[in-house]
Amino acid sequence: MMLHSRSPSQTIRIGKQLGRFLRRGDVVALVGELGTGKTQLIKGLAQGIGFKKSAYISSPSFTLINEHPGKITLYHMDLYRMEEEEAKELGLEEYFQGDGVTAVEWADKIPSLLPGQLLWIHLYYTGKQTRSIELVPLGERYEALLKQFSSEFGVKH
Ligand SMILES: Nc1ncnc2c1ncn2[C@@H]1O[C@H](COP(=O)(O)OP(=O)(O)OP(=O)(O)O)[C@@H](O)[C@H]1O
Ligand SMILES: [Mg+2]
Repeated sequence: MMLHSRSPSQTIRIGKQLGRFLRRGDVVALVGELGTGKTQLIKGLAQGIGFKKSAYISSPSFTLINEHPGKITLYHMDLYRMEEEEAKELGLEEYFQGDGVTAVEWADKIPSLLPGQLLWIHLYYTGKQTRSIELVPLGERYEALLKQFSSEFGVKH
C-alpha cells in the first residue's frame, strides 16, 4: 500500500491513524534514507497509541532506545549506527517479544534479528516537502492491521 505525504504534519497524521490500530507486541520497522521522515511518522504512531505529548519523540540517535511508558509502552529504536553483531549482544531481540510496541528506525541494519511478522514502512524522498510512504505487512497480524487501517483511511489497495 502506497501513501503520499505533502508535509511533515501529514506524515504525522498518517502515523497517528496507523498508531490507533497498534497493539501490545507489535513491531514496526521503518526504512528510508536520512531525513525521509521516519521520526516524524513515529511521532504520529505515539499519538495514535494514545500519548498526549509526542513532541518528545525525537531522534534517539544518542541513546539508541527511547522508552515511553504509557498504557502501552513504546520502544523507539534508532539503529543508524548499529552493527547486527552489536545489536545481538545488546539483546535487542527481546524487545520484539515484549508487550510494548516497538518502532525501529533503520531496521534493515539487523535483518537476522527481526521477528518473522512485522509491518515494514518504507519512506521515499520525492521532493522537498513530499514523501511516499509504503506499508508492507509481513504475516497475518499485519495484513489484518493494514486492512483495518486502509478501510478507515479510505484507500483501496
Ligand atoms: N512530507 C514530509 N514528511 C515528513 N517529513 C518531512 C516532509 N517534508 C519535509 N519533511 C522534513 O524532513 C525531515 C524528516 O526528519 P526525520 O527526523 O523525521 O527523518 P528521519 O527519517 O527520522 O531521519 P534520520 O534517518 O536522520 O533519523 C524533517 O526536517 C521534516 O520537517
Ligand atoms: Mg530519525
